[in-house]
Amino acid sequence: MQIIILDNPDQVATHAEQWVTEVIKQKSTPVLGLATGTTPIQLYKRLVQRHQTAQLSFANVTTFNLDEYHNIAADNAQSYRKFMKDNLFDHIDIDQNKTFLPICQQDQNPRIQGLAYEKKIRNAGGIDLQILGIGANGHIGFNEPTSSLASRTRIKTLTKQTLQDNSRLFDKDEYQPTMAMTMGIATILDARYVLLMATGTNKAAAVKQMIMGPVTAMCPASALQMHENAIILLDKEAACEL
Ligand code: GLP
Repeated sequence: MQIIILDNPDQVATHAEQWVTEVIKQKSTPVLGLATGTTPIQLYKRLVQRHQTAQLSFANVTTFNLDEYHNIAADNAQSYRKFMKDNLFDHIDIDQNKTFLPICQQDQNPRIQGLAYEKKIRNAGGIDLQILGIGANGHIGFNEPTSSLASRTRIKTLTKQTLQDNSRLFDKDEYQPTMAMTMGIATILDARYVLLMATGTNKAAAVKQMIMGPVTAMCPASALQMHENAIILLDKEAACEL
């Protein structure tokens, strides 16, 4: 693990932007793994700016998102497809037919959908750089504590804590999905580079477990200790328990 502690969330986003830009420039057909949540929004803003001001092209980029809520319409305001369109895809020159999320509707079989997603990633040549955030309980993607370290894309029930953490993003009377499809921990570990960003004191305990704790399914992010090219970008607050 390469751990980089920066002064503030702005610097974390700037640093992450450099990594993503580097991969896009170096590869002829780059494959990015993308994350949702509040943490990567600043990174996506910078990538949009770079596209607009420095002509960084996403024309040859393929993307795979970590997760998506189960049985959610693409145009639902809470879908991760909508999040990605609003924060990135609609503002860059990417071919949106080459942007994938692990989708599973009510009438689809999660196991078949999961296997198909894994196959799609393989057929694209694997993920060059996987962007990650971390949940306050140490989850990555929606791999909640107790997720197998050998897990692959599948359906997961979200924990109470994750539902509570994410409830801030839903209106009072809005339906909050309780299940999601997510890349597995082994899927994430297959990426050539993994770039995890964490900011703020509410992530400090999970960050400590991820870096200094044992490798355990109780802290899914701790699996990154086994990855050759894991880069952990922290602001001072997220690093305060190290
Ligand atoms: C969500 C997502 C994760 C994300 C995490 C942290 O539930 N499934 O991919 O990394 O929680 O989110 P945030 O960046 O908003 O703190």
